[in-house]
Amino acid sequence: MSNSLFRRKNISNILAEGSDDAHGGGGLKRVLTVKDLTFFGIAAILGAGSFSSLGFAVFNGGPGVVILFIITAIACAFTAFCYSEFASRIPVAGSAYTYAYASFGELFAWVIGWALIMEYSIGNIYVAYSWSDYFTSFLEKLHIHLPQYLSTSYMEAKHAIERGTDNVGILDAWNNSHKIFSLRIIFDLPALVINMLITYLVYRGVKESKNFSNAMVILKLAVVGLIILVGGYLVLSNGLTSNWIPKNTDGIKSFMPNGFGGVMAAVASVFFAYIGFDAVSVMAEESKNPQRDLPKSMIYSLVICTVIYILLTLVLSGAVDYKNFEGIGDPLAFIFEKQNLNVGWMQFLVSICAVVAMTSVLLVFQMGQPRIWMSMSRDGLLPPAFQKLHHEFKTPSFATIITGLVVGIPILFTDKTFVLDFTSIATLFAFVLVCGGVLLIPRKEKVAGKFNMPFINGKFIFPGIVIGSIILLSTLGNNFFGNKIDFSKEKRTDALASIIAVKSFDTASIANNFENALLLENKSDTVFKDLKDSVAKRTTAADKIAFAQKYISNENTEQSRTMKVSMIVFWLLMLGLAVLSFLKNYSLIPLLGVASCLYLLTGMTLANWLWFGAWLGLGLIVYFLYGYKKSKLAGENEGL
Ligand code: ALA
Repeated sequence: MSNSLFRRKNISNILAEGSDDAHGGGGLKRVLTVKDLTFFGIAAILGAGSFSSLGFAVFNGGPGVVILFIITAIACAFTAFCYSEFASRIPVAGSAYTYAYASFGELFAWVIGWALIMEYSIGNIYVAYSWSDYFTSFLEKLHIHLPQYLSTSYMEAKHAIERGTDNVGILDAWNNSHKIFSLRIIFDLPALVINMLITYLVYRGVKESKNFSNAMVILKLAVVGLIILVGGYLVLSNGLTSNWIPKNTDGIKSFMPNGFGGVMAAVASVFFAYIGFDAVSVMAEESKNPQRDLPKSMIYSLVICTVIYILLTLVLSGAVDYKNFEGIGDPLAFIFEKQNLNVGWMQFLVSICAVVAMTSVLLVFQMGQPRIWMSMSRDGLLPPAFQKLHHEFKTPSFATIITGLVVGIPILFTDKTFVLDFTSIATLFAFVLVCGGVLLIPRKEKVAGKFNMPFINGKFIFPGIVIGSIILLSTLGNNFFGNKIDFSKEKRTDALASIIAVKSFDTASIANNFENALLLENKSDTVFKDLKDSVAKRTTAADKIAFAQKYISNENTEQSRTMKVSMIVFWLLMLGLAVLSFLKNYSLIPLLGVASCLYLLTGMTLANWLWFGAWLGLGLIVYFLYGYKKSKLAGENEGL
């Protein structure tokens, strides 16, 4: 059994299927050029990440979030090289899934295919929600008002009400919604409608979609360019550059006002902004010359978008103090509001452009998902209906409809934060496996006219980088590794939280207990000494408690524990990889791809990991109930 779980597809078989009409491969029309594919990449990348979640990222990390954009771009560039290497060897539809089948074997291929549902379908839910936000605010500008309960997601409203929100829109949605028994009818109608329209367009075929998509990309590039020019000019001419070194809530000035931790808290949002360059790889079978054009287009689109993100972040964090981005879902329009840069016509233009930008993202992912399922179906891992092509439009029609449902139905019962985190963790996971896959496939001779990933032997360089970083962090990093394995601060904060959480309303005794608990702490621990002194300065018990509560609520002990554990695992994996690269002469670029994607994963929360684990568990159940038995490789000789 263990062997058959890792049965691999032979690359020449994959290629034969990809060009074979009987397998549906030759059935897709080859119409896309390098320009189309680059546009396709930009269409996928530039969307909700920049128009919506960028505000959240800047609020957390301040201007310093630029650094995270650069780190993420580097991780994505290494990954793009790996995708390109695979795409030049296996130019058929299927993306990372197909690549994993050839390198890691069937079980991993299935796991990747399953994780990619998060990237392609669940990611589109976030984009659809953001689309709806901008669309409704655009309608407002035209004085058309959609009831709040028809433009808010149920879960977002429910969670906000539970937190005791004072958000007027949410309260309006909650209080004015109709009820069926005790269930409030609140849902995001524009998000549902746009999903239906996109599904229809994709069902009709790639050519129509291609022309539509190219026009949208030109428009969004033009408007983003204008935002950068107008915003950048105003930041410089109004002397707002001091916002790039803002004061944090403690009054300390810094490019990273919430430290590097604040910057890393934005990982899911920043990474989401980059998702999409890899989607180019699923268009292999519609590409005129996939082995040459796919790699070029991935890199071109990635480079263009990275430059845009860095400039946009600088404009945003220069135009307005980073703290003002709290809860702002339309940051690019927000900076032009009256109290900020005050350019009315830009606000209007940005709303239209955002709608267009996000439509193009939706289109790309909605086209990508059915193509991945089509590949999985060809391999027997999904039912045959998923590879059925429409007789006239030549599109995977059944898979397209299912994609529409997979995006559409959860719109009724998820919210933005949940889908954003979920998408980012699953996609990063898939990227790690793609880069890891390149390490496992045999090196090939250079072929003229095809992409050839430069081979740099990582034998000494990679272990050198790992050991060098460990030495550097240990000497300069203020007890970096010691802090990672010391959980006493989190323990004590939790203990203090439980003292404060005592149900009794005898504030005086709670305050005394609190002070006593602090007094018991190790005097050399400066954090707790400061806290103890601060509490002691408060005269009344109520003040002491209020102060302590604020302190506790600022300390996310669960998140800090998860990040520490993730860091420990990360460095252990790095050491393991360093040993392997020394023994096996691994290629440096994919090694750095694995390392940088794993590093980004250290920013994920415990809840993200738990949900993702549950999703993978479900995927394994489906695999063993269906794919394992129905696989085309079942019963064949293993390890081709
Ligand atoms: N990168 C894509 C976006 O930001 C998913 O919308």
